[in-house]
Amino acid sequence: MKRKNKISLSILSLLVAGLGILCYVRWGVWFGNPPEAPYTTAPTPHRVLLTFGNDGPLSRMVSWQADSVLHTSYLELMDASGHDEAVCLPAEGEVFASRSGKTAFYHVAIEKLQPGHQYRYRAVTNEQSSPWYHFSMPSGDVDKPGRFSFLYFGDVQDSIGGISNRLVREAWKAHPETEFVVFGGDLCERPTDAFWAETFHSIDSIAQTLPTLVCTGNHEYLKYPIRKLERRFSLTFPYFLRSMVGENQVYNLPYHDAQLYLLDSNRELPFLYTQRNWLEQKMKEKPARWNIVVLHHPIYSAKSGSNNLMQRLAFGDVLNDNADLVLQGHEHAYARMTQHGPKGEARPPIFTVSHCSPKHYRIEFSDRFDRFGTGTQYYQQITIHGDTLSMRTYDAQTQQLYDAVDLVKGEHDHPTLIDRARHIPERLEFTPRPGNKKDAQFAARIADYKRKKGLQ
Ligand SMILES: [Fe+2]
Repeated sequence: MKRKNKISLSILSLLVAGLGILCYVRWGVWFGNPPEAPYTTAPTPHRVLLTFGNDGPLSRMVSWQADSVLHTSYLELMDASGHDEAVCLPAEGEVFASRSGKTAFYHVAIEKLQPGHQYRYRAVTNEQSSPWYHFSMPSGDVDKPGRFSFLYFGDVQDSIGGISNRLVREAWKAHPETEFVVFGGDLCERPTDAFWAETFHSIDSIAQTLPTLVCTGNHEYLKYPIRKLERRFSLTFPYFLRSMVGENQVYNLPYHDAQLYLLDSNRELPFLYTQRNWLEQKMKEKPARWNIVVLHHPIYSAKSGSNNLMQRLAFGDVLNDNADLVLQGHEHAYARMTQHGPKGEARPPIFTVSHCSPKHYRIEFSDRFDRFGTGTQYYQQITIHGDTLSMRTYDAQTQQLYDAVDLVKGEHDHPTLIDRARHIPERLEFTPRPGNKKDAQFAARIADYKRKKGLQ
């Protein structure tokens, strides 16, 4: 064998051996799924959730779970005024078998609800009922431009703090004008019944009253060489059942003069390209004054410039050309960036990374971001009013305003981005664990960033 061939063979052998060792060491992280404990499902309707439907901003859906076999099930719905009798809307049911148990899931689509009305509803399965819940429809014409606001929460994934329910309820209490709520994935720690119970605890008393939208995160997936999302995710959030494209959990909601898009970013590249084509096509079909996109993985990572390259490759240019606001999660920190024009002027989209979890990740401090935050939980209030989209970020623990950006679109002018948070100091709180090298490096990065920006 020639010497050159021997060298090539040696390099190849080393690469294969290295890859083998890496697979062995990281196998559990890449492809390991915690086992699901056996469970049974209560016969009374529970885990009731109100969300949007697939027929515009006046449609709603309700989903619930009851027992492990199908029974006659329906939704009782009535105008809260009590003047009319309740109507019974038949439910569609499906039994889902997970790794360690079975549950019957139900959902009902409610269409053509009346603007400005309040409704009461309860889920009924096999003559057993959930409690009565209520919801309000927005007043005015939701097909035309009009003021509205919603709340966004990045990762909740609250297996350690058990505080999410309080934080989400307090956020809603602070902003009672909220019309719906959006979660940016990783709402559930892992796809097991016990963690789903925890998720429903996190959103209890909110998700039965405020329409609740969720995009997928990596934690909702089962980890295999080709990742797999269980059908119980779509059965819980049934708007996906009619909107998914192939196996991609995508969804689009028109609301006044905005279009909201949910993407499924925890996928392999070919799936991301299918979603990109869907997004491009929808944005062309339904031009809107405001395009808001929600996905779990940040297009521009706050953790490392080399993270999420596939998501950036698939969606980056479509978002940069068409989106006004991109709401993201996954990195358990706060970071906000905008694009910039030739004279350095800030331009949309606004890319926001946020989370509402007790778990905090170490980030880098790339110059491309305008603002960072660590050490607490956050949420966003998005308001569209007249020619302005306002994003306000709050500290979820204190309700203090942490970030504020307005995107103004005049009739003929280019969009103008106004940073209204220049007077609000960035807060970067972190206590390194003694002897932890990565913590020490992060603490040094924070100190360096603070020094550069003249922060305390
Ligand atoms: Fe994540």
